[in-house]
Amino acid sequence: MTILVTGSAGRIGSAVVKALLARGETVRGFDLRESGLAHPSYSEVVGAFDDRAKCEIATAGAGAVLHLGAFMSWRAEDRDRLFAANVEGTRRILEAAASAGTRRLVFASSGEVYPENVPDYLPVDEEHPFRPNSAYGLTKLLGEELVRFHERTGSMETVILRFSHTQDAEELLDPDSFFSGPRFFLRPRIRQQEAFGNRAVADVLRAADPGREAHILARNENGRPFKMHVTDTRDMVQGILLALDHPDAAGQAFNLGATEPVDFEALLRDMGEITGLPVVTVDLPGAGVWYHTSNQKIRAALGFNPEWTIDRMLKDAAAAWRRRTA
Ligand SMILES: NC(=O)c1ccc[n+]([C@@H]2O[C@H](COP(=O)([O-])OP(=O)(O)OC[C@H]3O[C@@H](n4cnc5c(N)ncnc54)[C@H](O)[C@@H]3O)[C@@H](O)[C@H]2O)c1
Repeated sequence: MTILVTGSAGRIGSAVVKALLARGETVRGFDLRESGLAHPSYSEVVGAFDDRAKCEIATAGAGAVLHLGAFMSWRAEDRDRLFAANVEGTRRILEAAASAGTRRLVFASSGEVYPENVPDYLPVDEEHPFRPNSAYGLTKLLGEELVRFHERTGSMETVILRFSHTQDAEELLDPDSFFSGPRFFLRPRIRQQEAFGNRAVADVLRAADPGREAHILARNENGRPFKMHVTDTRDMVQGILLALDHPDAAGQAFNLGATEPVDFEALLRDMGEITGLPVVTVDLPGAGVWYHTSNQKIRAALGFNPEWTIDRMLKDAAAAWRRRTA
């Protein structure tokens, strides 16, 4: 059986492809970009998810589809691309998979469907109402609806995984990384806020610049440090493979991520010790980010057991930092 992995050039998709190949599967990738992966049991389709012909080529003979690819952007000018990739693209992949006789499709959704950063209650579980407040979160919720439609009408088994924020450990201390750069380093955060057009926030951040590269400890307007999940890609791979294989996953939606959220005060202290950079504390306007998402359902139902705690991730991040700065 061929397993189609979309987003095969991405952070999570490429790790899933490697894990499937390691257990002897025949895998096909599908992404806008080439993955650079080479293996006798691996082939790939390079193209866009909203291209019907490419979707048909990609899904041909695929017994299972792991739809992990998506466009992630929070910039207003990316809206058309966002909906084309994540909504229309998901519709086309589902329809092509249904025609190809795919038995199970696993869909990468996001905690932004709730959304986690403005929760009604904590911990956020799978019963939490859906009220996305970003266009990206909306595209994921619309993607889920398309998936539920196919489950309901019997075209295939489906599993929805609402992914936690996910990083390769090596990205955590990389100021150039898409997520961790602006999250943990002051100057990348300033550039990000300027690009988002948040001039007031950028001004607050710029005023805190000590004149050299520094980490940022973000707190809310009342001085509460941010807290959120940071899950290692390796644990996400474990959860995705359970969703692919486990009989009890069919028709279900699960939060997938680390068990404990990360308190940024402790994390930034540890990061500063590793890098030797100063940690600048900035109180940002608003309620800030402070959530805990439950992974209890996937632990109980499928036996998910995340292993890469933030302390273990930091060890790998420190090694990567030393390699980069040597
Ligand atoms: N990383 C996170 O923190 C996080 C959190 C929640 C959900 N997710 C979801 O997890 C999935 C994987 O995330 P990731 O971290 O590996 O992201 P990533 O950006 O590293 O990978 C996504 C891949 O999708 C491909 N892609 C984007 N638009 C495409 C299109 N129109 N056609 C074909 N390919 C396209 C990209 O080229 C990229 O290789 C995505 O669905 C994302 O929305 C990620």
